[in-house]
Amino acid sequence: MGNLVSISGSSTLISTDPPATVRAPEIEPGVGCNFDSYLLVPDNTLDDRIAAAKVRLGEDVVILGHHYQRDEVIKFADFRGDSLKLSFQASEAYARYIVFCGVHFMAESADILRRQHQIVVLPDLNAGCSMADMADIGQVEACWDELASVVDASKIVPVSYMNSTAAIKAFTGQHRGSICTSSNAAAVLNWAFENGEKVLFLPDEHLGRNTGYRMGIPLEQMIVWDPYQELGGNTPEAVRNARIILWKGYCSVHQRFTPEQVARVRREHPGIRVIVHPECRFEVAQAADHIGSTEGIIKAIESAPAGSEWAVGTEIHLVNRLGKALHDRTVISLDPNVCVCTTMFRITPQHLLWALENLGFGNIVNRIAVDERTRYYARLALDRMLALR
Ligand code: 13P
Ligand code: SF4
Repeated sequence: MGNLVSISGSSTLISTDPPATVRAPEIEPGVGCNFDSYLLVPDNTLDDRIAAAKVRLGEDVVILGHHYQRDEVIKFADFRGDSLKLSFQASEAYARYIVFCGVHFMAESADILRRQHQIVVLPDLNAGCSMADMADIGQVEACWDELASVVDASKIVPVSYMNSTAAIKAFTGQHRGSICTSSNAAAVLNWAFENGEKVLFLPDEHLGRNTGYRMGIPLEQMIVWDPYQELGGNTPEAVRNARIILWKGYCSVHQRFTPEQVARVRREHPGIRVIVHPECRFEVAQAADHIGSTEGIIKAIESAPAGSEWAVGTEIHLVNRLGKALHDRTVISLDPNVCVCTTMFRITPQHLLWALENLGFGNIVNRIAVDERTRYYARLALDRMLALR
């Protein structure tokens, strides 16, 4: 009988005795292997090979998986979670290698939080986040200077969503600000208003507005900053009156949900509960019954009574997984057309296998390494958030 490995998120155990179908790794110690040869690896051998590679690495590796990962990948995660939970896991991990099945900003955050001896790997470097890329550091610095020409910048606190580049996190740390995630945005905004009069919220307009509104900030006191317009497209007076300055960024997956879809699903399923991610537009969040981070969505549906019906406004892999796991509840997507995060989807079992087998031979592939100066300031911003735990 071989070792038993726990598959994250459930009590399922799998045997790690290498079955007869496991193929020998096609890499030489110290030489490494090109990813192309993995593209041809047949799917039916991947599970066994991934499990075997993981066992070989033992305590040297921890695999973190975001809820939007595909089933074939997330089943190998030691920890699965939303951005906040995974950032705690990254800060508490001891394993030499942190393999992050998520997107680039998540792996960067893990690298900022890691211990000295740790190395962070993103199985596919093309797994980015279009929202994070919408706030360019040059544009944000220019915005700050423009704001300073109208108001006292020392009274502005930057709050940046976890979905931002390491450079934006460092900017935030340098300017006495904090990071937030979709599950603690209100707590971080409260902290910010104890430390200043205005917040520059980066880069998701919708998370900022949805959270601010729920905290009682009127819509007219939240202005949008368009980096392509002078003073963000605002008058000096609007900037002076604003409490939250919302960067004009959005998630292309969540922005697809509409209030019309909420109305339709209510018509077609009387009594259905609608729960959406706070990256959805304000009108959608207003029309929904509940708003929650990915972890919040899972908890709400898991704790709901059997027989309840849910329409969910978030990425489809999570919605489908919930539907499959909770047989006695109905869980459907708010959007009848599939809403995939195409960048999360880039992490395939082949990529995971390639990364693990290379690590097993001491070949570090796809390392995410943030430079020391950026790490230092970004860590300040992340630590301010983690202190609010
Ligand atoms: P969560 O922190 O809710 O998991 O959200 C991350 C994300 O990228 C949602 O699009
Ligand atoms: Fe980025 Fe949207 Fe994908 Fe989340 S769902 S990782 S915000 S593109």
